[in-house]
Amino acid sequence: MRNYGAIGIDFGTESIKAVALEAGTDGSVKVVGTSAALSEGLRKGVIVDIDAAAKSLSHAIEALKKSADIGSGNIYAGIGGVGLSFQKSKGLVAVSRADGEVSKEDLKRAVSASESNLVRAQNREILHSIPISYKIDNETVTHDPIGLSGIKLEAETFFVTVFAQHFKGLLKTFDEAGVSLEDAVSLPMASAQALLSKREKEVGVMVLDIGSSTTSLIIFEENYPYSLEILPIGSGHITNDIAVGFQIPIEEAEKLKVNYGTVEKNSETPATKRTGKNSADDIVYGHYSKKKLTNIIEDRLSDIFELTEKHLKKVGREGLLPGGVVVTGGGSNLPGITEYTREHLKLPARLAEIHNLGGMREKVKNPAWAGAVGVALIALENHTNGGAFAGGTKGTLMRWLRAFLP
Ligand SMILES: Nc1ncnc2c1ncn2[C@@H]1O[C@H](COP(=O)(O)OP(=O)(O)OP(=O)(O)O)[C@@H](O)[C@H]1O
Ligand SMILES: [Mg+2]
Repeated sequence: MRNYGAIGIDFGTESIKAVALEAGTDGSVKVVGTSAALSEGLRKGVIVDIDAAAKSLSHAIEALKKSADIGSGNIYAGIGGVGLSFQKSKGLVAVSRADGEVSKEDLKRAVSASESNLVRAQNREILHSIPISYKIDNETVTHDPIGLSGIKLEAETFFVTVFAQHFKGLLKTFDEAGVSLEDAVSLPMASAQALLSKREKEVGVMVLDIGSSTTSLIIFEENYPYSLEILPIGSGHITNDIAVGFQIPIEEAEKLKVNYGTVEKNSETPATKRTGKNSADDIVYGHYSKKKLTNIIEDRLSDIFELTEKHLKKVGREGLLPGGVVVTGGGSNLPGITEYTREHLKLPARLAEIHNLGGMREKVKNPAWAGAVGVALIALENHTNGGAFAGGTKGTLMRWLRAFLP
């Protein structure tokens, strides 16, 4: 029997990352192909020009097919960008069995009831519905409630939602590119799937994904998602500031950032420190002061971290996540970023690392790939369990497909 494969696609604002994974019958997972293409038609992680986005998607898929020997496999897409958000809500049902024993069916009904109670703007779609706690007859249940007895069952559910318009844009893009989509999941949940250990999720942890136009945060606690936020600033803004600061084209600013950018302590040259003036050592590419470059980067990065801190404060987790911060996304390649994170958020921090992959794992080593890998991992898990990961979008997706496809 051929192993089962799945493709995960991260439609980022700067680039589309596509990865093909294959699951062995022994539970191992191999990277069998990857491709990246510049993405057009997105703003802040949201598809705004379907034609342009569809072209980019076609390029990415073509390149993936060339790079990989992919047999069967479903294609899953990650949805990120501004407009992604979360809400919690509660639902109460009567336990249905005469003997008062809670059944799986009761749990489902309680989650549906919490969905009905969701104060939801009409134009939002649910991407995940994850029950995070249950009460039986007003008593909190810490374990699986199935098999316990009572009269009333209450579920509290964590919903990840997205603007319907954004969801529709994604489906139309896949349709236009002639790529059949199996399901869509949120990118923060996908990255968490690829990067976090069970223990980290248990004690409290945050994934900080610094992309090009956005920075996404997702917090887990007691094994469940706790909050999620998309900030409208990313590493691309740093590049823009460098372009303005040095009055140079964006492409050159990007090179300057990638090759010489750093927030490492003591990256200043001894000569600069001594004289406080530009010395030969401070000049890179023959023109630019490294010190000025560092200042520009730090200024913009501090905006991102201020907003992150604000979110942590808002949800009452400032300095309170023992699992710390896992920094990911292309922007996490900046030297010194973990130390910077530690210092600014007063939390432990580590760089994203994807474990337990075989095959061409070197290709997805860069944290920019965590989203795509996570999406494909969820696809594999869904296939194995035959279930919808974290209350997936299957229903929503099918409804939309019926609504606008022939
Ligand atoms: N070595 C590096 N140093 C600093 N920044 C880097 C480095 N390598 C890549 N980046 C930055 O990472 C960003 C791209 O990251 P990523 O691929 O995660 O973004 P994206 O997913 O396309 O965007 P978004 O998530 O905002 O939609 C770019 O701004 C790029 O400049
Ligand atoms: Mg991204």
